[in-house]
Amino acid sequence: MVNPPLAMLAELTHRCPLSCPYCSNPQELTQKDRELTTAEWTYVFAQASDLGVLQLHLSGGEPASRTDIVELTAAAQQAGLYTNLITSGIGLTRRRLNALQDAGLDHIQLSVQGVTAKIADRIGGYKGGFDRKMHVAEHIAEMGFPLTLNAVMHRENLNDLPATLEMALRLRARRVEVACVQFQGWALKNRSALQPTREQVDSAKKTVREARTRLEGDMVIDFVPPDYYSDFPKACMNGWGSTGVNVTPDGTVLPCHAAETIPGLSFQRVTDRPLKEIWYDSDAFNAYRGTSWMPELCQSCERRDVDFAGCRCQAMAVLGDPGATDPVCMKSEGRAVLDALLDSEVQPDTVPELVYRRL
Ligand code: FES
Repeated sequence: MVNPPLAMLAELTHRCPLSCPYCSNPQELTQKDRELTTAEWTYVFAQASDLGVLQLHLSGGEPASRTDIVELTAAAQQAGLYTNLITSGIGLTRRRLNALQDAGLDHIQLSVQGVTAKIADRIGGYKGGFDRKMHVAEHIAEMGFPLTLNAVMHRENLNDLPATLEMALRLRARRVEVACVQFQGWALKNRSALQPTREQVDSAKKTVREARTRLEGDMVIDFVPPDYYSDFPKACMNGWGSTGVNVTPDGTVLPCHAAETIPGLSFQRVTDRPLKEIWYDSDAFNAYRGTSWMPELCQSCERRDVDFAGCRCQAMAVLGDPGATDPVCMKSEGRAVLDALLDSEVQPDTVPELVYRRL
């Protein structure tokens, strides 16, 4: 039985003032003239609500790059969706935040690239970005918006984890998501430079354990470890086509953020076919739904309904086979490939130059 999705990630635009080397958006970005219009997004939100979606994540690129972000938020609110704005903060003024609050925005997720201007501006590739972000964070706190701070961590900043948690507390975040880079999209170009060392990962886990005890009741800490160092894969999307749906800037409906990297799947646009039909009936959504497609190793594993064989896009990126067990799994043959990658790419003294992304 297929249930309706609970959450939709609406990638309103791929435009972004930052040029982070860990960007998970596809290597080919959608240009502005191909983005859905205000009316088209409004119709998408109404369809999402009818389908059963409860939470809408307004994302990008930088969603504030859309001049109609307030209108879009109001449209989502009117459709009855809980709205979360995932933003770098660049492009948000107090006036715009007031308008978003009036439009019914429920929650803000603010990304940070580092704990000092020096590192944050270097990683984001945007001079002055850190100071602007801190101003936006102050406004968000003053206005009483529920705030999640999203800190993307990697080799260059993982040692700053304790300071990152302090910063989240100072900015009055209710939740901090410490997410180590997931290697998809553009981030794959920088895997060797961004992959933390095992020592860094062990130390980060210890920091998180200690902080969770110390800050219990004050702030929730979500920690997404770098999965190349894990024994079992992440339950990507909670299973393909089970709870989440993504819509790209031009209206292409995807089961996950990176699904277009999987050859042989064809995806439909919400302007060509109703969202409901795409969710329930399209070949792409049914390709890896449920358990019958899984390799025998996963079919017979006690973790089959825990991690759902992991991430299809990671199996594709590392093994060239989207139907294989995620190579993170310690029981899989692919694990040797992943270990060899770690050995060859993570050198103690050599860190390659970052490759920035530009639209
Ligand atoms: Fe596509 Fe994990 S990102 S299945």
